[in-house]
Amino acid sequence: MDENTLDRLELYFTPINIEKINPNSVINFDLYIKMGRKFVLYKNRHLLIDRDDIGRLLHNAVDTLYIHIKDKKNFRTYLEDNVENLLKSEDVPIQKKAEILHDSAINVVEDIFDNPRSGPAIQRSKQIIGHTVDFILGSPQSFANLLRIRKHDFYTYTHSVNVCTFLVSLARELGISDKKDLKAIGEGGLLHDLGKSMVPSAIINKPGKLVKGEWEVMKKHPTYGVDLAKTTREINDISIIIIGQHHEKPGGTGYPGGLKSEELSIFANMASIVDVYDAITTNRPYSTARSPMDAAHFLLENKAEFNEKILLKFIKMLAVKKE
Ligand SMILES: [Fe+2]
Repeated sequence: MDENTLDRLELYFTPINIEKINPNSVINFDLYIKMGRKFVLYKNRHLLIDRDDIGRLLHNAVDTLYIHIKDKKNFRTYLEDNVENLLKSEDVPIQKKAEILHDSAINVVEDIFDNPRSGPAIQRSKQIIGHTVDFILGSPQSFANLLRIRKHDFYTYTHSVNVCTFLVSLARELGISDKKDLKAIGEGGLLHDLGKSMVPSAIINKPGKLVKGEWEVMKKHPTYGVDLAKTTREINDISIIIIGQHHEKPGGTGYPGGLKSEELSIFANMASIVDVYDAITTNRPYSTARSPMDAAHFLLENKAEFNEKILLKFIKMLAVKKE
């Protein structure tokens, strides 16, 4: 062990649970342990961490390790690279698996928004969506665990991951069981706001209501998203529908097309419900999060804006899973 101790503020280090380390993997971040008030370098990046290392740490009652905050992105990339083994492992509890999946998905979405025309990033998203579908199908507790770790602060990335989770679960609830369809729907959820990558961040992150000109730009994000999705040529048709129609409303008052209910895809109906639900149950720059119960009431009060049958199914699903 490197004896080089660092006496830094706790602010610079973030804890990670030892269960998130895949035994026999090479780490891409420096790993620290805490001794008293000091963070001691335990293992340098690019080194192998094996089962014996983990065994020794656990034997010494060390189950929490630390990384420097500068390595947060590297750690998420490590989780994404190791997600398959970690999800398969019987040593990792389901709650930790949900966190690993969530963080891996955030990692991918972040990279897609940075570079929305990237073929490799889209391929990575397909991997993660595959794991998400398998995870949700794998156990009745999976969705509840994914709900529990849902962050209540609004960022496009976390919102995208939440919408993906809700959509796959809602699709199952509606009787869609074909894995290919569930993955296509999940992809639509993860990428539904892809077009926001083309909207200036000053508009996306504005801490207040948008003025008319800004709102006009914002309303273009579904169209931008469809254009981007079509240029990559790797995004399925269901996703493209979700990206393009997730702000449409059955009464024809939505955007960008003002489509009427008969012109709207069922996938768009599903997406618009979960999109609004996730948005109003998270803290946004101009409004605080509603409770799940409040949000359900809000959706029911505004049921004319949604497909009512699907809305009722969604609310029932949340009640059963105790969101
Ligand atoms: Fe949107």
